[in-house]
Amino acid sequence: MTDLAAALIDTLPKAELHLHIEGTLEPEMMLALAARNGVELPYATVEEVRAAYEFDCLQDFLDVYYQGMSVLLTERDFHDLTWAYIERVQADGLSHTEMFFDPQAHTDRGVAFETVLGGIVSALEAAHREFGITSRLIMCFLRHLSEEQAFEALDCACRHKDHIHAVGLDSSEQGHPPAKFARVFEAARREGFRAVAHAGEEGPASNVRDSLDILGVARVDHGNRALDDPALTRRLADEGTPLTMCPISNWRLKGIPTLADSPVGAALDAGLLVTVNSDDPSYFGGYLNDNYRAVHEHLGVDAAGIVRLAKNSFAASFLPDREKQARLDAIDGQVESVRHRHASQGD
Ligand code: HPA
Ligand code: ZN
Repeated sequence: MTDLAAALIDTLPKAELHLHIEGTLEPEMMLALAARNGVELPYATVEEVRAAYEFDCLQDFLDVYYQGMSVLLTERDFHDLTWAYIERVQADGLSHTEMFFDPQAHTDRGVAFETVLGGIVSALEAAHREFGITSRLIMCFLRHLSEEQAFEALDCACRHKDHIHAVGLDSSEQGHPPAKFARVFEAARREGFRAVAHAGEEGPASNVRDSLDILGVARVDHGNRALDDPALTRRLADEGTPLTMCPISNWRLKGIPTLADSPVGAALDAGLLVTVNSDDPSYFGGYLNDNYRAVHEHLGVDAAGIVRLAKNSFAASFLPDREKQARLDAIDGQVESVRHRHASQGD
């Protein structure tokens, strides 16, 4: 007898809302691009690369992540990177992705903003043509850099509003609170960008509250620590503010001791609009469906919970309302068909 929740995880349409495209760089591609571009890496083999993926905290990971992306130099590199992610997750039932990119990590190395954007966009256009996968791009400001540097990135984004939908905030949360970027976010929102921010990953619940009140975010990336604050949790539930959680990432960065400690369970219990995502799947060893399987197997999220998470992924997206409804209807159709197959197997 097969597991209904597992069958739903394998086949339901889903959106991914928390995914750093640079975090999908697999060791094989890292080494291939290093050879193609003549970039020196401290690793000679896939095994040596993977051996570096042991992290005690966010900063440990970020150091390896920024080093890994040094192999990305040309538009073709960014296209190949993005296309590899699309090919990998279309098999997982992904039908929409809202993808972060970190342009400052590339422009700082002398790679032009347009080189980065052009490669990502051409792959996303091919994803739509070939698989019907839709997407939105979210440009993140690196919070360890200055406000002035964030304004430079925003200037670049303003030249490409046709391809960039929202701004986000990522990198080292400790020591770089939301208020540091109040003016940049205000300017970005005035320019018509939607806003999101990483908050409450390693920082306190107040970073989640300040992201809402100071940065004006439409949803919070991670948001784990919000659950420490009952008043804030009630506010997130009342206002229907989405949280984009990443269980395997939290576990691999030692934010939680085991997957059974993922805050996804408490967020579901509190009635939050929580979604499940992969963050940096190559570095953390799990793509979108692996994260769904993690909450099913370690938190006991059942078939109804899996359907709720898949529906939340579209409800929390930046798709227009009519399109959201079409995706929710597609989930209902797929649930019917999976249940029917199960019933006929005597399940
Ligand atoms: N947190 C903060 N910054 C990041 C992450 C993350 O998980 N991944 C890539 N940049
Ligand atoms: Zn992230």
